[in-house]
This record gives sequence, structure tokens and C-alpha cells, in this order.
Amino acid sequence: MINDKKVLFSGMQATGNLTLGNYLGALKNWITLSDEYECFYSVVDMHSITVRQDPQILRKRARALLTLYIAAGLDPEKNCIYYQSHVSGHAELSWILNCYTYMGELNRMTQFKDKSAKHADNINAGLFTYPVLMASDILLFQADVVPVGIDQMQHLELTRDIAQRFNSIYGDVFTVPEAYIGKVGAKIMSLQDPTKKMSKSDENPNGSIYLLDDPDTIMRKCKRAVTDSEAQILYRDEQPGVKNLIDIYCACTNKTADEVVREFAGKGYGDFKTAVGEVIVSVLKPLQDEVARLEKDKVYIDSIIKNNAEKANYYATKTLCKVQRKVGFPDRIR
Ligand code: TRP
Repeated sequence: MINDKKVLFSGMQATGNLTLGNYLGALKNWITLSDEYECFYSVVDMHSITVRQDPQILRKRARALLTLYIAAGLDPEKNCIYYQSHVSGHAELSWILNCYTYMGELNRMTQFKDKSAKHADNINAGLFTYPVLMASDILLFQADVVPVGIDQMQHLELTRDIAQRFNSIYGDVFTVPEAYIGKVGAKIMSLQDPTKKMSKSDENPNGSIYLLDDPDTIMRKCKRAVTDSEAQILYRDEQPGVKNLIDIYCACTNKTADEVVREFAGKGYGDFKTAVGEVIVSVLKPLQDEVARLEKDKVYIDSIIKNNAEKANYYATKTLCKVQRKVGFPDRIR
């Protein structure tokens, strides 16, 4: 607990461009969480280098992501938005927890298997111990809840196992985190294959709307969205493409599917796609303007980076000192 609130931790990688799906499905709903939880949102740049990165691009994207979170409405005074690499406790705890994690456990991680198949020329040790670094992120802040997608559940389970293992040896050191199941955001599917989730790593850029796409690009992608030959705007599983467009329209306007179906009764797909494009632009344009405004305010963003790294360091050091004592490292002489 911090300030009588439960702690929430989540990490985001700055690799790939965030999509409308990330925004409507997650980010938009996080804005309200800071009333209930003490929130830490880390830009996990240390995780990013498990795959080879261009240094300039990584640095730029990390800053863009941090800025985007603030632009989207996460108040950086209430939410600790910071770079993982600015808090050395992540690396230090990670080393310790490596010594409490079994090779067999890491070998079972499906993301490791997927990523090593994808990057067969660079199966480095960091890729293998990636889940331990993630466990360290979470446990360092004694997080109670972690909002994660289904793809990260296995890592969260491992985090719980490591925490419980450590606690069973040394007493109650770590809070054992739970997955955050709150109000779920809209699940947005690819515009090109509505049976697949809209993803920032999709090879077909027409499947995803990126948060920084300009209005023309947004309109073009919407017009090209895959639908069907039913020629009726109904909200049902048999028409996954149309259903997805309705979901997007709803999430952007806060209308219900019924209202949207009524609004567009008798209209053609062309008109509907244009309308969907327009509501997306009406949501993303202000966000993009705010990003542009914040990007110009270097002094402000720098001060957020500095202050939040200090805040994160404060809590990280607390946990780390406790852990170092437990495992038998000598006390520091002050
Ligand atoms: N591995 C997560 C992802 O790729 C990112 C992440 C790193 C994370 N550390 C975390 C998520 C801690 C939640 C909590 O999506």
C-alpha cells in the first residue's frame, strides 16, 4: 500500500507504434484508475533491447510513448510514468530473482519460444530471462494488481510463483500480484482480418490504425476495411468486419451498438465507413495535437522524467534493501 491505496504496475514497450486498439482497449480506461490505485507505468526500455534496436530510434520512441501517455490524460503528478532504465533497482532485483527462477520454468514460456523462432539469429540470454525482469518490475513496487493482456498472463503467473517461492524461504517480503480485471475496454480487431486482434506488430499496416496516423490515412484505412457482401449494418458474429467497425464507432462515441445500428439502418457500407473514419479522427486529432504541444515543452517533459524517476527510485530502493538483507548481502556503511 502507498498512501492507503493499492499499487498498480504496468509496463509498456516503446517498440512498434501504438494502435487505436491499444488506446480504446487499455489506455483510455487507465485514466480513471489513479483515484483508486497508486499507479506506476513504466516505459520498459530494458526489455526492448532483448531484440536488437536502433539506439536513436529506441530513444525517440521511448520519449514519444511517455509523452503519449501524458497526452492521453494520465496525470503524471498522480501516475508515476518513468523509464525503467532510470531505476537501477530493476536490474539489481532481476539478478537476485534470476537465482530463484528455474531454467525449466523459463523454458516453458511461450513468448520465449515465439521470439526465439522469430529472431533465430539472436537468441540471447536476455530474451530468456525477460520474464524475470518483468517479475522484478512488478515485485519491486509491491504491486497488488497488474493490468495485462492475455499474452502476458503466463509471465504474471511466473511472477506469482517467484514471489511465493521467495516468501516461503524468507517470510513476507513480496506482495503477490493479481491480474487486474477491471472494466474491460473495447476489443478492437484488425481492419483487414476481423478475426485477429488489431496489433502494433501486424505486418499489414492497413489492418491497424496507429495513434499518430494523419486524418487522410485514417479515412483511407477505414474505407478499405474488410466487410462482407450482406449489405446491412447489423451487430452480429456472422459479420465480424461490420461488427468491429460498430465496436470502434461505439468506443469513440460512447454510444451503444443498438444506437449505432438504428442510426445507420438502410445506409450503405461506404457511408458507414466514412462515419467511422470521422469519429476516429475526432478522437485521435485532439490526442495528436496534445502530443505535439507537449513535445514542444521540453522543460516540462524533462521535469516529469526526472521527478518520476526519483519517485520510482524511492519505492524501488525500499524493496531492494529489504531483499538484499534477506538474501545475506552485507549492510551498507552510511
Ligand atoms: N512484457 C510486457 C509486454 O510486452 C511489458 C512489461 C514489462 C510489463 N514489464 C511489465 C507488463 C510489468 C506488465 C507488468 O507487454
